[in-house]
Amino acid sequence: MRRGSILTLVGIGVIAGGIAAAVAVLLPWLPTPSSREAGRIDFVIWFVIVICIVIFAIVTAALLYSIVRFRAAPDDESDGPPIHGHTGLEIAWTLVPTLLVTAIGVVSAIVLSQNDAQGKNVLHVDVTAQQFAWSFSYPDAGGLTTATLRLPKDRSVLLTLRSKDVIHSFWVPQFGQKQDTVPGLTTTLHITPDRLGTFPVICTELCGLGHALMRSEAIVMQPAAFNRWLAQQRKAVGSTSSGGADAGKTVFADNACASCHTLAAAGATGNVGPDLDNLPALAKQAGQPLQSFVRQSIVDPNAYVAPGFPKNVMPQTFGSALSKSQLDALVQFLVSSGKKG
Ligand code: CUA
Repeated sequence: MRRGSILTLVGIGVIAGGIAAAVAVLLPWLPTPSSREAGRIDFVIWFVIVICIVIFAIVTAALLYSIVRFRAAPDDESDGPPIHGHTGLEIAWTLVPTLLVTAIGVVSAIVLSQNDAQGKNVLHVDVTAQQFAWSFSYPDAGGLTTATLRLPKDRSVLLTLRSKDVIHSFWVPQFGQKQDTVPGLTTTLHITPDRLGTFPVICTELCGLGHALMRSEAIVMQPAAFNRWLAQQRKAVGSTSSGGADAGKTVFADNACASCHTLAAAGATGNVGPDLDNLPALAKQAGQPLQSFVRQSIVDPNAYVAPGFPKNVMPQTFGSALSKSQLDALVQFLVSSGKKG
């Protein structure tokens, strides 16, 4: 092969590789990894991308060079020379992919086993998915339940995921992993957040009418601030268990009613279900006293469905998941907020 040809091939390869590398690096394809697991997953992705860029550069160089250099003249209708295999070439194109794929497999296996390994002092969080809301409870903190996932930075967290109705899927893009929640099964996901911030919790499995609205937030806090928050919440849970509209507002917030309903008193603007500021009018339509209408709509949502809304969207299991005092407080809160509206 001529020296000039080699230089041309290398030149095209460098340009093609440079363009591919620029597309990979300069565009923000991935969110900033915010957990140790996501950092490792990103390493695997970049490991594969570098291999791909090198192969792309080599193939592009050979292709473009061949198209220009070996193009047949317009009047040339002869066949090319017969070729009967090339042992060296065949060994190379078998061996190189074998080594590359094996390397990717080994790196992936190491990362998977590292991501599955539990750290010390694990924080347990129970994640419950239902149409169309997430709730998070902390079994080590007296079963405190919230609609927002708060986590301490740099601590190993084990999420135990369950679904009350259909298949959902838990996803925080910055944490780098997805995990389905399956009715009747318990799944787990291991996360070690390593960057402070507020990240979206997304349902990434089509689960019904409100799927696109099934969102929450994961807030990663300094460990000291997290412990303070946990202590405060436990105190607040204790003081509102006596009932009242304030307790009802907490039940409303903790069960993510806001993801589907509008209610001015709770700052809620969801529009999957009926507007709860119109509860008195809805009760009149249903021909029931307000209080018993509200209670029935929570415990047995299909008993009366407001015109224009489909059945079976409001979770059937919702009422039974609440304690009697939580249900009473929620009804009281909705009745009193509805009157104002
Ligand atoms: Cu839950 Cu989509």
